[in-house]
Amino acid sequence: ILQCYNHGAKKSLGHVTVVIVGGTGDLARKYLWQGFFQLYADQVGKGHTFSFYGGALSTTEKGTPLLFDILKELACPAELSVERCALVKDQFLHLSKYHQLKTTEDYENLSQQIKQQLGQEGIIEAGRLFYLSVPAFAYADIAEKINNTCRPPSEAWLRVVLEKPFGHNLYSAQALDKKLSGQLKEEEMYRIDHYLGKQVVSKILPFRKENKKLLDPIWNKHHIERIEIVLKETLDAKGRIQFYDQYGVIRDVLQNHLTEVMTLMLMNLPANLSNSEEILQNKLNFLASLQHVDNSNAVVGQYQAYNGEVQEELNKTKDYFSLTPTFAGVVIHVDNAQYEGIPIFMTSGKALDERVSYARVLFKSNVFCVQDPNNVQCKSKQIIFYLGHGTLQYPAILLSKNLFKPELVSSGDWKEVTEYKDVNVLGLPLSDYYIQSPVTPREAYCELISHVFFGRKDSFISAEGLLASWEFWTPLLEGLSRVFPRVYPGGVDNGNLLNFQLKGHQVAFSHEAVVNVINPGAEDNFQVMQGKYRSSEMVSAWAQELVERLASDLLLAAEEAIREEGQFHLALSGGSSPVALLRALALNLYTFPWRNTHIWQVDERCVPHTESGSNFRSIHDLLLQHIRIPYFNIHPMPVHLTQRLCVEEDGGPTLYEKEIKKHVNGSSFHYILLGVGQDGHTASLFQDTKLENDEENLVILTESPNKPHQRMSLTFTAINRARRVGVLIMGKSKHELVSQLSRIKGESSKYPITKVQPKSGTLIWYIDYDALLG
Ligand code: BG6
Repeated sequence: ILQCYNHGAKKSLGHVTVVIVGGTGDLARKYLWQGFFQLYADQVGKGHTFSFYGGALSTTEKGTPLLFDILKELACPAELSVERCALVKDQFLHLSKYHQLKTTEDYENLSQQIKQQLGQEGIIEAGRLFYLSVPAFAYADIAEKINNTCRPPSEAWLRVVLEKPFGHNLYSAQALDKKLSGQLKEEEMYRIDHYLGKQVVSKILPFRKENKKLLDPIWNKHHIERIEIVLKETLDAKGRIQFYDQYGVIRDVLQNHLTEVMTLMLMNLPANLSNSEEILQNKLNFLASLQHVDNSNAVVGQYQAYNGEVQEELNKTKDYFSLTPTFAGVVIHVDNAQYEGIPIFMTSGKALDERVSYARVLFKSNVFCVQDPNNVQCKSKQIIFYLGHGTLQYPAILLSKNLFKPELVSSGDWKEVTEYKDVNVLGLPLSDYYIQSPVTPREAYCELISHVFFGRKDSFISAEGLLASWEFWTPLLEGLSRVFPRVYPGGVDNGNLLNFQLKGHQVAFSHEAVVNVINPGAEDNFQVMQGKYRSSEMVSAWAQELVERLASDLLLAAEEAIREEGQFHLALSGGSSPVALLRALALNLYTFPWRNTHIWQVDERCVPHTESGSNFRSIHDLLLQHIRIPYFNIHPMPVHLTQRLCVEEDGGPTLYEKEIKKHVNGSSFHYILLGVGQDGHTASLFQDTKLENDEENLVILTESPNKPHQRMSLTFTAINRARRVGVLIMGKSKHELVSQLSRIKGESSKYPITKVQPKSGTLIWYIDYDALLG
């Protein structure tokens, strides 16, 4: 220790102990020791003293030579002379030691050793840094051991570095977070996403800030045509299938690396780039503004050899098929005034034709080139955050010269590149770009290790940010868990097989697959089935297909009504069933005749429309705010009158009834969409709802057994006058009900839904396979 300290002329800032748990593993070998060596080389002589421990499960006799094999191979940092490096490396080797870390006693023993050594040398302790380079299932146990035995004295810091995977979905991430936060404080945890250590990624915000004046006017939906966030790899997953098969490409890189890049590009710029609180808040606001994604916004693939690798590495039989995607293409939309409508393509895959990662903002072109198409004004306008590899081969920020000349992000360690290799980057020759790049390339791990040392929390993932990202990705992951990925051969042979394209807000592969599915015959599972249910027509399919079918039936009904009467009157229910349908309708932006459609409510809870429990609020959030519909075509139920909710004397039901009579021919809606509750209720008509006046009334106030109790609802009279009634039932939890209803003939007072019997219209049941088959 003294040997190291003696180098510096400065006063001691205290001792730092670094412990790499999993210190002889693959990641440690490839990146971590090199990163700590670089840290040591940077810091030696600047006031801190250090010691380094590589910990693993093996005994000291076995572990020590393994560790020294790794340390021997460490490369010299570029900025050190050969002699200086030899000296520093020699010191580093002396300060590094293997320590078995298996039992609580091992950890206690390590802590004792640190204490004793520092005591003997009379050096104060600055902090302890534990880097957990172990599988995530071991985190909670190690965190507990560190907490119980290895905390430094109170004046010194404790920092524990963790690597992904942080959970498998929102729920497991929450559970892991709960376990870890029982042992470590949030400020002690450094969750690594190595993309945040990439030099270009860490300069996205500074670049936006430096160039704010020129970027502000164009960083919006009026100027940006599309955004692409891309990580293409030639490598496959061979050798790491144990891990990979449980996760797949979306969890492996989209949920973390690519989401971080997207967030940095599109979050509101913080006023102060060193305010981690403000950065975090802006990140969270951005993630909260993303539109929900589901299967219709994604395409997935799997390279052909993958399944064989799974069978081999996981000891599976020949008939085992993994659905884990190794390729994904997703389109994301942001739900705010600045970016709405801009498609963000996010894509990544293994076994593709080239290794490259970048994020690109492509601007709309407003120039019409009559002649001279090679003129710089006629070429694409783009900004590229180029993370590395590909044709360029080095990290850089590129701006096409027809935009503007940007400021340098950081004058000391970034430089402008003016020598142009003869290559093309995303459609333009290098000479068409202003290029800036780091003076010295640095490994992401190296950067992050130094950030841990300096306590720069904003280069790491916060618990809140992590959960927000999982919240966004989890529904898609759940939806994709049953989807067969398209099989692709790998490398250049993929040809156009993985190209995908936008369709409204959705995406689909652009070309028919040559090899379609892994499991021949499995497509049949996705077919829509037609049959009879309770003597009426029934359509059944998996949820996604069912909702799409219902949306297209609604479109047909709308077109027919508009042809005949010039208007389409649609009444929508609340509850959870129509959620997916409303989303599908919102995405069907260009084709649905909203201008001539009137939206009515089947039922409403007696709460203000602005509250999240309000049915109108959810119709608004899921559908209305995304479509162009005239305001006067929207008819919310008047539950909130004279400053109070659903009071008899206010006459809300009568008002709504008048409105229906005024607009709807014969009070006969063209389409009423219903759901069914587990107890058999429909609209807000329950088993105990008194229906004496039902014959005359179209709208009544009712009482639900569940909160909020007071409701307004269409009556059976209104429902049964409709030309078409669709009943949508989805999810396993409705299976019991679906079986019971199928056994009941005619009406039953126990199940209000059985009273839905349109007089001259048609009733169609839409039941998904989960509800039908259980
Ligand atoms: C890792 C993933 O986090 O990122 C790997 O687990 C992936 O599957 C890698 O290959 C990509 O990182 P980079 O730095 O090579 O782009």
